[in-house]
Amino acid sequence: MGERLPWTKPVLTAHGAGGMNKFGNVRARQHQPDIDGVAIAPLLQQYGSPLFIVSEKTLRDNARRLKRAFATRWARVRHGWSYKTNYLGAVCNVLHQEGSWAEVVSDFEYHKARALGVPGSRIIFNGPWKPNAVLEQAIEEGATINIDHLDELYAIETIARRLGRERVPVGIRLNFDTGYTEAWTRFGFNIESGAAADAARRIAASKWLRLTGLHSHIGTFVLDVRAYAAQARIMAGFMESTERETGCTIEYLDIGGGFASRNALQGVYLPPEELVPSFEQYAEAITDALLEATRGRVAAGKPLPVLVLETGRAVVDDAETLVTTVVANKRLPDGRRAAILDAGVNLLFTAFWYNHEVKPLRALEGAAEDTVLYGPLCMNIDVVRASAMLPPLDVGEPLAIGPAGAYNNTQWQQFIQYRPAIVMVTAAGEVELIRAAERLETINAQERLPASVAQPFPQGLPE
Ligand SMILES: Cc1ncc(COP(=O)(O)O)c(C=O)c1O
Repeated sequence: MGERLPWTKPVLTAHGAGGMNKFGNVRARQHQPDIDGVAIAPLLQQYGSPLFIVSEKTLRDNARRLKRAFATRWARVRHGWSYKTNYLGAVCNVLHQEGSWAEVVSDFEYHKARALGVPGSRIIFNGPWKPNAVLEQAIEEGATINIDHLDELYAIETIARRLGRERVPVGIRLNFDTGYTEAWTRFGFNIESGAAADAARRIAASKWLRLTGLHSHIGTFVLDVRAYAAQARIMAGFMESTERETGCTIEYLDIGGGFASRNALQGVYLPPEELVPSFEQYAEAITDALLEATRGRVAAGKPLPVLVLETGRAVVDDAETLVTTVVANKRLPDGRRAAILDAGVNLLFTAFWYNHEVKPLRALEGAAEDTVLYGPLCMNIDVVRASAMLPPLDVGEPLAIGPAGAYNNTQWQQFIQYRPAIVMVTAAGEVELIRAAERLETINAQERLPASVAQPFPQGLPE
């Protein structure tokens, strides 16, 4: 009798030829060795893995394309850089150098912009909570303040009275139904209910305030340009009726952010290259609607308002890549292959919404297979990609994941891991560290140990 082999549970694996998705296996075969000509692999050696890499060139190109698309269609255009999308100092200052103002939504962001050297007069202050101290600073420094609710309106009035400043210019944030997107009603004053017109009247009746602007932000990753055309029409209509009724002069219409970036939204069938409108398409829809809606104004010889954009994700998303390394492979009970990476949803918060592109740095041998990509967190939700067609990945294999520039470096979490370094590949092709990797000291620096708990094990405690 021969030796009895131990029984092992059989695993059935569906064999895929690697080209079984709708777009063939072209994507699976892509690889990305460099960013703007700078090889990625040596950067991992120098700065460690994971590593975020920002492309200054892409950032500047995006900002310039956005501005060109609008400035060739509307006389006066302003871009406010949405800090919450990515407030790395180097990213903000590249955009400020391109002429973008700062668009901030909290006291922290306001102070961050000021610390970077942005004058208050080039700050747009939005957000539902502006504490009194920073509100007062913003008034004194001439920031553009868009009021979210009546309590803020009263707060500004009280501060203006105390400072003896009459006719402080303010904007109001509006919300309304465009008919194309789910109406966000929690921010600002609603037009349909009459709350927005009431707020405008309330401002007109105050000697301390002066209504000079209208703001709205209709959503994010808005793929239908008709939503923006409707937004522009509704805001322009509100501008005309409010000016007529209260005698104010609206100097700016701020249409917020929300343009989609070239990222693949989960559950959306077509790839972003086919789905996401270009800046020109957004610009055409918005400015056509505005030109139409302001004809009477032009005929009456009144100046056209400045068109303010707060485009965030579409400017920065594809300008940043997360490079991560495979730390283990495993076969799941249902036969799928899984890889564990050293970066997870702690660093790539947007993995909850996007199917990011995942590319090895070099061309890999072997048939592509449906692979689950997990992060390093001891949490079930830590899934970077639920399904990606990838060739076999050895432990130690680095992968480039992107676009990763929007909302990751602001919404990331320090959960059981240090946050890694961020470098920028400059327009000159140099590599600069723009945020150092965290260490134990970084985290401990904020903690205090009361003397009574300074020792973990008091003397005399039995083993
Ligand atoms: C007021 C405001 N402006 C601009 C933005 C930027 O939006 P996005 O990144 O979708 O362009 C946001 C994002 O939530 C916002 O709330």
